[in-house]
Amino acid sequence: MVDDPTGKPVVQTFALTKCVSTGDDQLTILEDINLKVNSGDSVAVVGASGSGKSTLLGLLAGLDVPTTGKVQLGGEDIFLLDEDARAALRGRILGFVFQSFQLLPALTALENVMLPLELMGAQDAQTAARELLQRVGLGMRLTHYPRQLSGGEQQRIAIARAFVTQPQLLLADEPTGNLDSATGAQIIELMFELNRELGTTLILVTHDEALSARCASRIRLAAGRVVD
Ligand SMILES: Nc1ncnc2c1ncn2[C@@H]1O[C@H](COP(=O)(O)OP(=O)(O)O)[C@@H](O)[C@H]1O
Ligand SMILES: [Mg+2]
Repeated sequence: MVDDPTGKPVVQTFALTKCVSTGDDQLTILEDINLKVNSGDSVAVVGASGSGKSTLLGLLAGLDVPTTGKVQLGGEDIFLLDEDARAALRGRILGFVFQSFQLLPALTALENVMLPLELMGAQDAQTAARELLQRVGLGMRLTHYPRQLSGGEQQRIAIARAFVTQPQLLLADEPTGNLDSATGAQIIELMFELNRELGTTLILVTHDEALSARCASRIRLAAGRVVD
């Protein structure tokens, strides 16, 4: 959101609106959202529960379709692309971290982190995944399954999985929401370290004051509109 005339926006939205029909009524979940997030920026998305934060992230990722308006990701108008091209763009540019970790339970830590690289057809997924798991402090847990790990450890794996493709943009939806505050603080530290080391742009949805204070800028949503 910092208006750097030399910086290229990683993601930009134009009059983004999302409505859903609920029986007879039309519910407006997001209305006229215009955002520009530049490379290397860190943005906190805050607002009450139900204000539209998760819906906004889903639209930025092209996982959900807007009613009107557009999203440009890496300069491409994502809703003009077909499903396959959009998925390929997402794989190239985006990493995700969710509140509920979303690891695949039947895969080990190492296999979970290798997966996005394998889906991209990358060479030597295992080496890159091992290195990143070591980087997040889980080098001794490579062959453990998610159920054998604590919440904080699972979120570290999810972060390693999100960063392993070296995404330009990391989207995180309440990444500390299921963690105690000490573990959450370690996860925040880790995301910002990786942000600095890899130059990743961060957009974080959060209720966590400590997390939002670490971001360079903040967007506040209320009833589907940007109010601040
Ligand atoms: N597919 C849907 N159909 C109907 N209502 C929805 C749908 N998706 C989200 N909503 C509603 O839109 C509002 C915003 O949801 P959400 O983006 O999840 O908010 P937040 O993440 O800020 O808590 C909520 O009131 C939610 O119930
Ligand atoms: Mg949400």
